[in-house]
Amino acid sequence: ALHRIPHPPRRLPLAGDVLGADVRRPLQDAMRHGRLLGPIYRRKVFRREFVFVWGGRYAADLADESRFAKHVGLGVANLRPVAGDGLFTAYNHEPNWQLAHDVLAPGFSREAMSGYHPMMLDVAERLLDRWDAEERAGRPVDVPADMTKLTLETIARTGFGHDFGSFERPRPHPFVTAMIGTLTHAQRRNAVPGPLAPLLLRAAARRNEDDIALLNRTVDAVVAARREADGSGSTGDLLDRMLETAHPETGERLAPDNVRRQVITFLVAGHETTSGALSFALYHLSRHPEIAARARAEVDAVWGEDPRPGYDRVARLRLVRRILDESLRLWPTAPAFAREAREDTVLAGEHPMRRGAWTLVLTPLLHRDPEVWGPDAERFDPGRFEAAAVRARPAHTFKPFGTGARACIGRQFALHEATLVLGLLLRRYTVKPDPAYRLRIAERLTLMPEGLRLGLERREAPE
Ligand code: HEM
Repeated sequence: ALHRIPHPPRRLPLAGDVLGADVRRPLQDAMRHGRLLGPIYRRKVFRREFVFVWGGRYAADLADESRFAKHVGLGVANLRPVAGDGLFTAYNHEPNWQLAHDVLAPGFSREAMSGYHPMMLDVAERLLDRWDAEERAGRPVDVPADMTKLTLETIARTGFGHDFGSFERPRPHPFVTAMIGTLTHAQRRNAVPGPLAPLLLRAAARRNEDDIALLNRTVDAVVAARREADGSGSTGDLLDRMLETAHPETGERLAPDNVRRQVITFLVAGHETTSGALSFALYHLSRHPEIAARARAEVDAVWGEDPRPGYDRVARLRLVRRILDESLRLWPTAPAFAREAREDTVLAGEHPMRRGAWTLVLTPLLHRDPEVWGPDAERFDPGRFEAAAVRARPAHTFKPFGTGARACIGRQFALHEATLVLGLLLRRYTVKPDPAYRLRIAERLTLMPEGLRLGLERREAPE
């Protein structure tokens, strides 16, 4: 029963377990509690109690779609004012989820992806130009900033035929600044009791309104430009699907206010987490030169010197892909997802749950559960994703993209883009860590290696 779920020892009558909590880093705070309290635990935040899980057994049971479904709660629910019933934030019962899912899923087919590939290469070449210039100047690169430029331009170009000019700007595009503002705000709202939020966060709420207005204006301009183009230059990209495509069975289309929600959703979900994934991968590669050398040898073997490797040659970078998997294991950049019971049920045969009761899965701890990953789970080792090792592990214990019907629609997109870019970077540069740097994780619902800078050395031309 629920009373058997451990909680922190000392509780305050009003505040619950929040005293001493790190409100800027709630995920790392939850990880700390998880390590102390075990694979399932509860915490009281003001008067609300939350159940967290990270044990592989629980996560595997929660993946049963017949008994559990996505829960829109905490950070995701706090994004409703921005993303409404867009794909990521929609409640399961909202009709626009199924409609948008069915209309947009073909935008992630193999065929669609191979159409995006040349555009992904174009954007990656802009990154290489920039890094070449930094390397010549002997300057270290700001990894999260540059990865964000790259991934924002990639989703904007492939999905919406739009160019934010990120690489030409000295500062981040205002869309990015506003996005980080709203993500941070959505995260902070969890640390403030509901009734007090309007009072305590008044100034922050006003800033948040401004941020949302900027996001709306930006996407409205993107949509207006497409409508003015009036079919000419139409490529069947995500925006075309949102504006033109009727549901194959019902003939329904997305309404204009829903299109706005979807465009914001895809511009945000489509770049922020991929940027983090690439940044963490580069961090690990800088610390493991022997793995970087093996990966580079793989790129040489598969791509040779071809400056524009074709679509089919990206998935053949097996080790590069395993490096990404291993980076997403240790720091899954969308670090939690929530599951609710569809009916009264018992979690893992131990904990009764009423219909609608929910729990948050802490993926960074799930991905380090020693019962699943062994005693050296904290160590970076891409070998864990070799086929035999994967087969030997229990199912549903690696979940960086969530689970079930509401899992990430952009998974293949993200992995293709990130593998392509890492391949190109490994082939051209050796990345050098700053010996003084200690990994710090910034949180804004998503995770980023804060302040990560790396030195570059352009590789000698191969023999
Ligand atoms: C959903 C992670 C890249 C679009 C999700 C979820 C996770 C996730 C964990 C499920 C959230 C939940 O259960 O509440 C990631 C990671 C990425 C990534 C780690 C990169 C490494 C992308 C990209 C796109 C995208 C590139 C679009 C181009 C979405 C959308 C949903 C989603 C629209 C909602 C799907 C639905 O509910 O139907 N993602 N994602 N993501 N992701 Fe991603």
